[in-house]
Amino acid sequence: MSKIGTDVDRALAVLADGGLVAIPTETVYGLAADASNPAAVQRIFGVKQRPTSHPLIVHLADVSLVDDWAADVDSSGRLLADACWPGPLTLLLPRGPSVIDEVTGGRPTVGLRVPAHPMTTTLLERFAAQIRRGGGLAAPSANRFGRISPTTAAHVDADLGDDVDYILDGGPCPIGVESTIVDCTVEPPQLLRPGAITAEQIATLLGFRPAAADGPSRASGMLTSHYAPRARVLLVDSPTEVANAVAAANVRTVVIGPSLSAKTSVFGDSADSDDDLVDLARYAASLYAQLRAADDAGAEVIVAVLPPAAGLGHAIRDRLIKAAAPRS
Ligand code: TXA
Ligand code: MG
Repeated sequence: MSKIGTDVDRALAVLADGGLVAIPTETVYGLAADASNPAAVQRIFGVKQRPTSHPLIVHLADVSLVDDWAADVDSSGRLLADACWPGPLTLLLPRGPSVIDEVTGGRPTVGLRVPAHPMTTTLLERFAAQIRRGGGLAAPSANRFGRISPTTAAHVDADLGDDVDYILDGGPCPIGVESTIVDCTVEPPQLLRPGAITAEQIATLLGFRPAAADGPSRASGMLTSHYAPRARVLLVDSPTEVANAVAAANVRTVVIGPSLSAKTSVFGDSADSDDDLVDLARYAASLYAQLRAADDAGAEVIVAVLPPAAGLGHAIRDRLIKAAAPRS
């Protein structure tokens, strides 16, 4: 029987049994288990080869479940949850008393998010109604630790096929980069990982800018090297520098960047024209597939065009800079 399909009943049966299901979200695919089952959650770490000190996000069906999982949600957390969920935002909140240590790595906080993907919303709603009352699914991105996140069911199958019990195929992820993470357990809230909910949007909602992450990072996605393809990644600031970078590399090279539309210039001085916003969204949606395709094509070097540091451009730059960082 194929492991990839659209059978929500089968996914629920696997989860009820303590198994692992890859789930589509609007950002990237997640590797999900019942967040209240310690053995199932431990299996996620084993399959991902991820250190247990890197906690997992709990995915919930609905914003109304937040108080079952978090304690003392303050006004910033409440406001962001109400405004952005379902959507590509993860909030770090003080953990509720029933959250297990396997999920949080023993920390006093828990990462929560309500994803916006119709198939996974159905799964989460039925899970919380039929399998574990008010329950949630712990899910990191469905890739081995430090590698590129999957944005299609086929990516998950290629990485983890043997180790996952079922892959729920919800098509390609429309956003393509992981959720924005905001830590609401500190004052003022800190932006730990840029994503499709931008710092500008958060500032508008809160009435002040969130602080940038400082000090030793508290989210593993903030490790210097992450999201890494096999090929070496060279970054350039503009499409006009690509030819020189390719010539200098002088090995099998693949170029990745925004899809070149009919326009002659890609990205003007800033990213605020409508065309540029569309290009940024397309670039984010195709970014990980482009990195994977370059590896599959046997590239030794990937030359990647950095978008401007505005809006969604921050998230793309963050992932590319980590993909280009020296591996330890
Ligand atoms: O878009 C996403 O967020 C995807 C989809 C599947 O929801 N998930 C995702 O999970 O990117 P993951 O585990 O690959 O990245 C979540 C990051 C990790 O760096 C993790 O360490 C951090 O969030 N994190 C989760 N809970 C945390 C907590 N309580 N304190 C600090 N960091 C936390
Ligand atoms: Mg990840």
